[in-house]
Amino acid sequence: MSKVQIKVNDNGSLRITGEVELLDGAGNVMETKPAFSLCRCGLSNNKPFCDGSHKGKFDSQVRVAKEE
Ligand code: FES
Repeated sequence: MSKVQIKVNDNGSLRITGEVELLDGAGNVMETKPAFSLCRCGLSNNKPFCDGSHKGKFDSQVRVAKEE
């Protein structure tokens, strides 16, 4: 099994790549594609998926803190 990758997109969604099971609050499996994006801004009208509503309205850039 390959490693699942989750990318925290700048000012946007969480991009999930790889074979995963996405469950709703009751534990039911939700249909997904091999790569999909989850909303991280709270503005999507299609939660938990990103629908692009974040564009221009969400500011968050995550970076790993590097020691010097
Ligand atoms: S991250 Fe895209 S709509 Fe929320």
